[in-house]
Amino acid sequence: MLQGKTIILGVTGGIAAYKAVELLRLYVKAGAEVHVIMTESAREFVTPLTFQALSGNPVHTELFNLYQEQEIGHISLADRADLFIIAPATANLIGKAANGLADDLLSTTLMATKAPVLLVPAMNVNMYENPIYQENQQKLVDLGYHLLEPVVGELACGWEGKGKLAPVDAILAETELLLAERDMEGCRLLVTAGPTREEIDPVRYLSNYSSGKMGYAIAAVAARRGARVTLISGPCTLSVPPGVERVLVTSALDMHGAVMEAADTADVVIKAAAVADYRPVNRAPQKVKKGDGEQLTLTLTRNPDILADLGTEKGGRLLVGFAAETDDLLKHAGEKLQNKNLDLIVANDVTCEGAGFDVETNIVRFLYPDGRIEALEQMSKVAVAGELLDRIRDMRQRGS
Ligand code: PMT
Repeated sequence: MLQGKTIILGVTGGIAAYKAVELLRLYVKAGAEVHVIMTESAREFVTPLTFQALSGNPVHTELFNLYQEQEIGHISLADRADLFIIAPATANLIGKAANGLADDLLSTTLMATKAPVLLVPAMNVNMYENPIYQENQQKLVDLGYHLLEPVVGELACGWEGKGKLAPVDAILAETELLLAERDMEGCRLLVTAGPTREEIDPVRYLSNYSSGKMGYAIAAVAARRGARVTLISGPCTLSVPPGVERVLVTSALDMHGAVMEAADTADVVIKAAAVADYRPVNRAPQKVKKGDGEQLTLTLTRNPDILADLGTEKGGRLLVGFAAETDDLLKHAGEKLQNKNLDLIVANDVTCEGAGFDVETNIVRFLYPDGRIEALEQMSKVAVAGELLDRIRDMRQRGS
């Protein structure tokens, strides 16, 4: 996703400077061209040589260095950036930027750039909470600078609190979000993900193996591409992708209510959730005790079919379903496509290795109402999400 992008990575002097090395490695691995600018204090923590070796580019350190200016001057560095990120960003750097001070290479280049800027602060919790710092930070945010807030944790200074550099994978995700091609801008997308839980009693439930990975990948990629995404999620441990609004639900009935409410304002609905078709007729108010008999009969009743309900009042919405099958994949998926009045169904045979529940990859087929079938290779769920969103974008452009 970062292939061919030019990133300027500014590193200021804090203990978290060493994490910028890992961030640089991830950027380079993702295909970005990275130019590093270090402040004098940053060089107390990590040597320029480390960044130089990993980026394959000279590291920029001094404003008045004839050699560096001749190689690639700070203004042209500022001009060629697709994204300017400062990680870690100290209170000093943020204070200077907020007040228009440019007294070293990093602050000068920052002032000269027209690229989007992402600030990733890290500092002592008391510094972070200081109203002067907060005012500076807010000023920059109000001016359109992007901010990835520090997280709570044990700080290098011995204090515990908010001030720790955001995890590097979160910085990478934020970077991808800022640099993504925004071809889904204006699209309001509703995605469901994860399992539902149908309670038997206060300690037991019926559910399935869905981890939420497929649906969360769709939500994350769509948000990166500019869609306004609402994610209705059953219980799972995944964190909310940047830019996504998440609604947590438990049972199929909860999901039905949440989807019906949100669907009114959606242009596209993608149902990747694994919804229970049945729930216990009665949820016992107390834990069901072991009886004397060998068997216990649980009586179930049908849950509403959320997707089928959406299909009956489709309006101008695009409706996309998933079919998780263990046999006769195309036949069953084709029936669901028709019966639920869908524009596309993503069929996955969940018995295949590398496909379906709780794995990082999927092997899917796209089925269309006109009988067309597209078979995709095994790929990451993020890549499946990208392919699916490409099809949806094209269908929207064609008006079908
Ligand atoms: O979450 P992961 O671990 O990443 O796994 C991904 C996945 C296997 C869950 C996903 O790829 C997938 O196949 N999701 C759909 C699972 C499923 O419930 O399939 P189904 O064939 O039972 O249902 C067909 C469609 O109707 C689905 O879009 C489902 O969301 C929807 N449905 C089903 C029942 C119901 N009561 N209401 C519904 O809306």
